[in-house]
Amino acid sequence: MSNYHIKNLEEYFQVYRKSVRDPENFWEEVAEENFLWRKRWDKVLEYDLSKPEVSWYKGAKLNITENCIDRHIYSRGDKTAIIFEPNDPSEKAEHITYKQLHERVCKFANVLQDHGVKKGDRVCIYLPMIPELAISLLACARIGAIHSVVFAGFSSTALHTRINDSDCKIVITSDGAYRGNKTIDLKGIVDEALESCPNVNTVLVVKRINSDIHMKPKRDKWLQPLLDEAYHDCVPVLMDAEDPLFILYTSGSTGKPKGMVHTTAGYMVYTAYTFKNVFQYRENDVFWCTADIGWVTGHSYIVYGPLANGATTVLFEGVPSYPDFGRFWEVVQKHKVNQFYTAPTAIRALAKEQLGFSEKHDLSSLKILGSVGEPINEEAWHWYNDNIGKKNCPIVDTWWQTETGGIMISPIPYSTPTIPTYATLPLPGVQPALMDENGNELKGNLVSGRLCIKFPWPGMARTIWGNHDRYRDTYFSAYKDKYFTGDGALRDSTGYYRITGRVDDVIIVSGHNLGTAPIEDAINEHPAVAESAIVGFPHEVKGNALYGFVILKEFGETRVHDNLRNEINQIITEHIGPIAKLDKIQFTTGLPKTRSGKIMRRILRKIAEKETGNLGDISTLLNPEVVQEIMDGAIS
Ligand code: PRX
Repeated sequence: MSNYHIKNLEEYFQVYRKSVRDPENFWEEVAEENFLWRKRWDKVLEYDLSKPEVSWYKGAKLNITENCIDRHIYSRGDKTAIIFEPNDPSEKAEHITYKQLHERVCKFANVLQDHGVKKGDRVCIYLPMIPELAISLLACARIGAIHSVVFAGFSSTALHTRINDSDCKIVITSDGAYRGNKTIDLKGIVDEALESCPNVNTVLVVKRINSDIHMKPKRDKWLQPLLDEAYHDCVPVLMDAEDPLFILYTSGSTGKPKGMVHTTAGYMVYTAYTFKNVFQYRENDVFWCTADIGWVTGHSYIVYGPLANGATTVLFEGVPSYPDFGRFWEVVQKHKVNQFYTAPTAIRALAKEQLGFSEKHDLSSLKILGSVGEPINEEAWHWYNDNIGKKNCPIVDTWWQTETGGIMISPIPYSTPTIPTYATLPLPGVQPALMDENGNELKGNLVSGRLCIKFPWPGMARTIWGNHDRYRDTYFSAYKDKYFTGDGALRDSTGYYRITGRVDDVIIVSGHNLGTAPIEDAINEHPAVAESAIVGFPHEVKGNALYGFVILKEFGETRVHDNLRNEINQIITEHIGPIAKLDKIQFTTGLPKTRSGKIMRRILRKIAEKETGNLGDISTLLNPEVVQEIMDGAIS
């Protein structure tokens, strides 16, 4: 077991060296000692990164839900697997034991089977953070169906694009969602989306807010009566190691969202291993990741990683500000949370409020604090460390991506000394490389460049659904035989990594990955808009916010511009969701372009960041005169 649970820095280095010298042996031992395999693998790893083709544990047979549920029933049947904490603190929390989880997953899986869902079929899940969300993922996995969760904050357009891209025939949703003091009409959004999804023939609806919704005859069914009738056991479908487990969409810098495909065995081993080590999980700890299961963080560290370790995981429906800004800390106290994992944007938002909100709650159960999704700035790190961890809890700044499946670079608590803003060291099995602009690897320390990973790891996505060429071109063509992350990073004198941010046209807003192209496409749909360009600029709470430069077909009066701004944000909300709304919109008569017609975003970025002293050479632009106009009209 020593490979599995690292306890000090010396051991980390030993394990790390071993994992790099002989990755196959390393990942074989991890897999052998900790999981339930129905058939052993024939080969631990086969890969060719030029294609790219990667397979881990080829030949093995398993079902991930047997690993996440069944095998715990004998030793931990009455242990709580999931603590559901509702949006409204006066509603009772629900404790679901491993035994109960087994029954609920089996029943749900049988309902899916009764509706014709088979191994390999795609199932779209559009649900709020309620137990049925976690259960529906596991129910799909039980029968070998591929789940595709769409974050319930996405609009109907975003939803139908994703449903059609992976050709889902069934959607699981709810009558609505609670979010703080608001309710959201999820079913209405689904109805609208399905007008553009001719292949969806079944919608299973969870009753959550008891709203009066329209149920389309034959297509829409309330889930609960079906569950009540369903048999309580369901034989797990045996999966090949490389059978897809799920699709999860992420934004790219261009084009439509990419359906990242994760497969079964490697993803399971990787999320379980990283969960155990990064959070130093011990039996009877209570782990809470505040992410939504609609994002990869929730897939890997609310559902699969914790359950594969027999852990107790908190599933929180609410928001940090309802009923007040003490909500997170109240939940920590109530459930005696030991590991708390959240995003810097939440920390920054809470740090702006009075300290009384955290001080009035007992946070002494906390042992480890985590951060994910974007760089954590020094101020937020200290606030977290001082006021929440009381300088007593290691902070794990975990760097990873939807594509990587699990955490890649992170301190290991009690082993790796932490430094604010540094994700520190690669986890065992992870081989980062920093590359210069010419495609050469930067060796040694005190270098900065583009972050790549030069050897496969079990959790990596294997393809983009329906578009393997795009997978190769996006991730494996910039640097030969290396996975390119899209991030920049530096390595300091001790070998620690600090992630410096995206080097492409993806902007991280409040920890959400937003591609500029889909937002620009949405804006350009407005009849008054001729062209637009989006860039990010630093924002106190969100990390980055969006700044749009918009050319109108007719420039018009300033008075009308305010209405247009609202309309543009409305269009973005409809096409993507409120998370992609622009904070600033500047109307202009032109955009700086190269002679080949490409928008020079670098210049727009500098203007948005108010760093106009150093715009670089603009003389080669097609229209250098427009730069002054944009600078004069910049919104402060
Ligand atoms: O830019 C990096 C940033 O988030 C991107 C990945 O976003 P997504 O696929 O949505 O996954 C988010 C949750 C894993 C990365 O390319 N990012 C993530 N974690 C960190 C980070 N940037 C700096 N520090 C981090 N700890």
